Amino acid sequence: MPLTIGVPRETAAGEKRVATVPEVVEKLIKLGFAVLVESGAGEAASISDDAYKAAGAAIAEGAANLWSSSDIIFKVRGPSAAEVSLMREGCTLVSFIWPAQNPELLQQLTARKATVLAIDSLPRTLSRAQKMDALTSQAGVAGYRAVIEAANAFGRFFNGQITAAGKVPPAKVFVAGAGVAGLAAIGTAANLGAIVRANDTRAEVADQVASLGGEFVKVDYEEEGSGGGGYAKVMSEGFQKAQRDMYAKQAREVDIIITTALIPGKPAPKLITAEMVRSMKAGSVIVDMAAEQGGNCELTEAGQAVVKHDVTIIGYTDLVSRLARQSSTLYSTNLLRLAEELCKTKDGIIDVNMEDEAIRGLTVIKEGNVTWPPPAPKPSAAPVAAPAAAQPAAAAKKSHGHGKASEPASGTGTAIMFIAAAILFWFIGASAPPAFLGHFTVFVLACFVGYMVVWNVKPALHTPLMSVTNAVSSIIAIGALVQIAPPIEAGLNRPEDWIRWLAIGAIVLATINMFGGFAVTQRMLAMFRK
Ligand code: NAI
Repeated sequence: MPLTIGVPRETAAGEKRVATVPEVVEKLIKLGFAVLVESGAGEAASISDDAYKAAGAAIAEGAANLWSSSDIIFKVRGPSAAEVSLMREGCTLVSFIWPAQNPELLQQLTARKATVLAIDSLPRTLSRAQKMDALTSQAGVAGYRAVIEAANAFGRFFNGQITAAGKVPPAKVFVAGAGVAGLAAIGTAANLGAIVRANDTRAEVADQVASLGGEFVKVDYEEEGSGGGGYAKVMSEGFQKAQRDMYAKQAREVDIIITTALIPGKPAPKLITAEMVRSMKAGSVIVDMAAEQGGNCELTEAGQAVVKHDVTIIGYTDLVSRLARQSSTLYSTNLLRLAEELCKTKDGIIDVNMEDEAIRGLTVIKEGNVTWPPPAPKPSAAPVAAPAAAQPAAAAKKSHGHGKASEPASGTGTAIMFIAAAILFWFIGASAPPAFLGHFTVFVLACFVGYMVVWNVKPALHTPLMSVTNAVSSIIAIGALVQIAPPIEAGLNRPEDWIRWLAIGAIVLATINMFGGFAVTQRMLAMFRK
């Protein structure tokens, strides 16, 4: 029997999001599930019960009805103790949980024999998991909203203008921390026409800052800031001093500072001192996104907007909820992608497959047994060589971040590969016809060049790379046409005929790649057209 997904009304104070929107309800029903939504669940995100009904959901009056009739619960915030007590035994829960910070909640859920998928525990470096990455989708919304809040509190235009009434200089924005939220803030402020600068301890993000229209401002101190997995580490005292000097200079120059610096599991680094705030121009704005973790600015008050030394300091902790319709839509799409992974058979039944790395990472309780933390990820076949201490900056650029890229094989590995290739060539040269050896050499070289090109291209340049790949496919098509050219005389058992059919296959595949590649590139470019 198909399972029922229940969507309760969020009960946490100030939480306006809802875990499923009507557009996604339709898709969940297509996956075979029944969907039950608590009356008023979408109200704060401007979604009426009628909109859910029109999409095919049933409406439950009251939380007790909703929880007791649902096999799976889709939620934004982790449930309260009262909500856990309403839960059916053996229910599956998908929501933010933060298991490290909430051991009591884990215990309560274990007692209900629940299976719990914590959306915050998704292994974010897995590229297959990106479509389910709610931390990223929500931080992106928050970064956007931080700029809107700053613009609202700032008394001038963001873009420079020359008008009959006078010349308006563009606003200068400095973003501290260029993770997901920071990058969204950089892109939004640049789109509004501001001059945007940014800094991060991970030098590898410099290209991403530039690709969004910002300028990366370096700290005058050589130290690698990556703590692995795309996150930062605590920096040395020497670095922090040099960083403070640079931030003090920026504070004097810019109009708006947006801080997003975060080191997982640590209090937010204090980057903007009271003295820096005092040095800012009157009317400037600081949006401290890390307010909930103690703030990146010494004068931030969490949840408040305050004016100190003529500078507005915004420490709102509900930036995502301030764009509730948008964040709910993105969050529910993340959950839909997860539902698709859990229900590949499209019959409304889920399979929490613990062999799947992404699902394993998410699952913090399986049928009442705590499975968090997950085992450390398996080491990859070709381990990444430790960066040489003498070249930290160069090493950082190649190491993975939010968009990761693997290192080419190590020196010994390459030597073994070359020896194996030489033996293979010798063997083929001795036994195969001479023409074959020529083609085979071209083929091997193509594989090698392709590998080196793709693995050394930065993720930001993957779209143009796709276009180049299309061009390469065109060459395959020409080669295949040449192979087709000789007339075919008889049945399929002669080698020429096989060559012909292989060539036709090559043309079909190259055509798919060409047209598909151009279509996808076109779609991506269309996203940037106004
Ligand atoms: P993230 O981990 O992707 O980005 C944090 C960035 O800060 C990283 O790139 C890191 O390298 C950088 N960083 C760490 N220490 C630094 C330092 N000393 N100097 C310069 N850069 C440093 O995190 P994400 O998802 O972008 O979130 C950023 C912040 O925004 C977090 O504190 C998060 O809790 C907060 N947030 C706040 C919301 C709100 O409503 N106020 C909503 C969503 C996120």
